[in-house]
This record gives sequence, structure tokens and C-alpha cells, in this order.
Amino acid sequence: MNHISDLTPEGIQNADKDGDIPQPIRHGDCAPDCPECGGIGYVRYEVSVGHPKFGKVERCCYAQSRSIAAYLRSGTIDPRIGLTADEVRNLNWNLVRKGVNQADQACVTTRKAFEEGHGLVFLYGGFGQGKSLILKIAVATAVRAGKRAAYANLAGVLDDIRSAYDERENKMTELVRRMEWWTSQDVLAIDELDKVGQTDWAKERIFQLMDLPCS
Ligand SMILES: Nc1ncnc2c1ncn2[C@@H]1O[C@H](COP(=O)(O)OP(=O)(O)OP(=O)(O)O)[C@@H](O)[C@H]1O
Ligand SMILES: [Mg+2]
Ligand SMILES: [Zn+2]
Repeated sequence: MNHISDLTPEGIQNADKDGDIPQPIRHGDCAPDCPECGGIGYVRYEVSVGHPKFGKVERCCYAQSRSIAAYLRSGTIDPRIGLTADEVRNLNWNLVRKGVNQADQACVTTRKAFEEGHGLVFLYGGFGQGKSLILKIAVATAVRAGKRAAYANLAGVLDDIRSAYDERENKMTELVRRMEWWTSQDVLAIDELDKVGQTDWAKERIFQLMDLPCS
């Protein structure tokens, strides 16, 4: 009589000719000995009904950092994303401390728009108020979730767009292509808006970036 494992797809595909114990096919993308998920890459919490995590499946934190690391290592990360590998890995909403300044309120508003998936948030405030921190967190969180996102100073964005004119050929196509890269992001965080001269050209690009009608 055949053992049941000889009949399962795992048994058929992995049965060794020499009769060694067949290795199960690996499912998931985490380490096979991961203490959190056992290799599946996802975790489910044993919590009671009513708990916010009840019935939810979440990405294993180790699997997540593995896939981000692979993504960053692969060299496909676009420098225009504007964050270091460490920032992409580590920045999260919990880093904003409450009661230090108004960053926690700004964080609530920004996070709400982020989670709703649409909207425009304008952060205005004195130096060291955590504005840049919040912008970077939004972008890092989005990148980890597989969204297209970028953090940049306005001057950097405008330089990238302006350098389209340096192309020998197809300047206009290149200009449109570059503009599109910035406007097609799921999350676009533009910092230091006040550091850029208000030329007509810059104003027009800013309006385009913000998707506001030009007047
Ligand atoms: N509420 C906070 N919780 C944790 N870290 C904070 C908070 N507020 C500020 N920081 C930290 O203080 C430093 C300055 O903050 P940040 O650069 O985000 O300020 P900013 O509002 O962008 O200032 P600027 O207008 O000068 O650009 C950063 O290292 C940031 O991480
Ligand atoms: Mg700043
Ligand atoms: Zn895992």
C-alpha cells in the first residue's frame, strides 16, 4: 500500500529516487525556521473577538524586512524615492512622540489621509517640529506597503524636471516623462517648499505637481 505522502503533489514532485524522505514544497517567502511565521511569511494573532487584530492576517515582520532588503539590494530602488534603505525599513508612525510639539496632531491628520488613500496635507510650522519626519514616515510606510512613493525637497524635484532641457533630443518628451514620474506617485511628499524662488516656471510646476488648476 502507498503511503499518503506518495500520492500528494509534494510527495510526487519531491520524492527522491533513492528513497530519502521527501522534502515538503516550501510555501511562503520567510526563513523556514522563522520563529514568527514558520516560513509562510504571514501571521495570524490568537486574539478574542472584538480585538482589532481578530481575524486579520498580517505580514510577518521578518518576511517584510527580508523582502524590503531584497528589493533594496536588487538595485532597482530609484534614488528619486529620496530615503535611505534604513529609513525605508525603520520609519513608522510610532516614532512621532506625543506632547513634544504639534507633530502628533500633524501625524494624526497625515496618517488619516494616508490610510484613506487620498487627499492633500499641507504641514506648516517652525523648525524642528517634526514635519520632515512625518513626511518621511508616510513615504517609508507606503514603500513598505508596495506603493509608489517619494520624498524630496521641492528644489530637488524642480531640478530633476528642469534637467530634461539638458537632453540633446526629445526635450519635451523627456520633460513630460519626468513630470509624470512625480505626479504618478501614490504618495508624494514634497519638503522645503519655502526654499525655492517663486519664478513663473517654478510656480507652474508646483501647480502641476499639486494637481491644482493653473490660473
Ligand atoms: N514629535 C516628535 N517625535 C519624535 N521626533 C521628533 C518629533 N519632533 C521632532 N522630532 C525630531 O527632531 C528632529 C527635527 O525634526 P524635523 O526635521 O522633522 O523638523 P521640521 O519640522 O522638518 O523642521 P524644519 O522646518 O527645520 O525643516 C528630527 O530628528 C525629528 O526626528
Ligand atoms: Mg524639515
Ligand atoms: Zn517570518
